[in-house]
Amino acid sequence: MPEEKKGFQGGKKQRPGCNHNQKSHGNAHQVDIKAQNFTFRELAAATKNFRQEFLLGQGGLGRVYRGTLPKSGQVVAVKQLDRHGLQGNNEFLQEVSTLSLLHHDNLVKLIGYCADGDQRLLVYDYLPGGTTESHLLDIGQYQKPLNWITRMRIAYGVAQGLEYLHDKANPPIIHRDLKCSNVLLDENFNPRLSDFGLAKLGHAGDKIHVSSRVMRTYGYCAPEYTETGQLTAKSDVYSFGVVLLELITGRRAIDTTKPNAEQNLVSWAQPKFRSPKLFPEIVDPLLHEQFPEKALNQVVAVAAMCLQEEASVRPLMSDVVTALGFLVEIPEDFPAHKKARNSEANSEHGYSLDVRENSYSSVHE
Ligand SMILES: Nc1ncnc2c1ncn2[C@@H]1O[C@H](COP(=O)(O)OP(=O)(O)OP(=O)(O)O)[C@@H](O)[C@H]1O
Ligand SMILES: [Mg+2]
Repeated sequence: MPEEKKGFQGGKKQRPGCNHNQKSHGNAHQVDIKAQNFTFRELAAATKNFRQEFLLGQGGLGRVYRGTLPKSGQVVAVKQLDRHGLQGNNEFLQEVSTLSLLHHDNLVKLIGYCADGDQRLLVYDYLPGGTTESHLLDIGQYQKPLNWITRMRIAYGVAQGLEYLHDKANPPIIHRDLKCSNVLLDENFNPRLSDFGLAKLGHAGDKIHVSSRVMRTYGYCAPEYTETGQLTAKSDVYSFGVVLLELITGRRAIDTTKPNAEQNLVSWAQPKFRSPKLFPEIVDPLLHEQFPEKALNQVVAVAAMCLQEEASVRPLMSDVVTALGFLVEIPEDFPAHKKARNSEANSEHGYSLDVRENSYSSVHE
């Protein structure tokens, strides 16, 4: 490339709000953000003007679109936050700054943000596997259900992501909105948590008001949150218990299509926690009894501990990670014919290679 041109590029004036890789944005000159700062125009170009066909879904904070960054060609998910009830620019940038420092294999990566005028957008890595909800709870006629090992690996990954947020991130982060739709999957069914810490962004001030959004995720809320509005790491542990129960049972946290006594998953399952003989009754019928019994006992015990009313006696996520670590391998006592059926389901499904190799090697040894 001729020198002149290089010089021209180097000296190119940056558009306001296009200062990639950190610092000085409008009134947030003190905020050091380790994520790209995009202009609204760039993100409009990435999503072809937020075209309907690129809409991935809509949650409590706004709409999410699939996009392709014009410069790098990277495929991303662009979350356009609703403008009502948003925090000020500085609070938004502070929050983005904190989130942009987080890196873990089980967290969706925040690539960048946009704070152009009154627009607030977040740009994330695109996860092609969709949500755990769509593989577990919304499965269509031709969709294969997740097998046991894949469910356990999803639970283990979610636990590790949460452990990172609680114990390793500085300052510690409370997820605040853990649920199956916020557990995204990559092409190998590895889970990544999305929307950690974001629930704060939709509300000015510290107090999260009781809104339709809170009601929507009601089935995942710890009792102390419903009663006092207080959120701690232990409320995340409770929500994790609900996600774990959904993975075991294939039932929704709240399902108003079920008879009254079965609408609330936790209330339905909790009486059965007392007797291991009853554990198989709560397992997702779509697993067709393809699960190791010992592992079922252990995982139900973990769920029961996470779902305790009293927050202080729930385990820490680090304890949960240790407990689930033992459950992600196919155990020796898992009958060979069940292993084979599990691996068949995996390969038809295109599940993670790891999962298949694990099962095949055990079967063919
Ligand atoms: N990084 C991503 N990669 C791929 N798809 C995504 C990504 N982030 C979100 N989505 C998709 O967009 C949909 C909407 O996400 P959004 O977070 O707005 O809603 P939600 O998770 O249902 O609710 P909440 O606002 O409480 O998180 C998700 O269900 C998912 O299908
Ligand atoms: Mg979400």
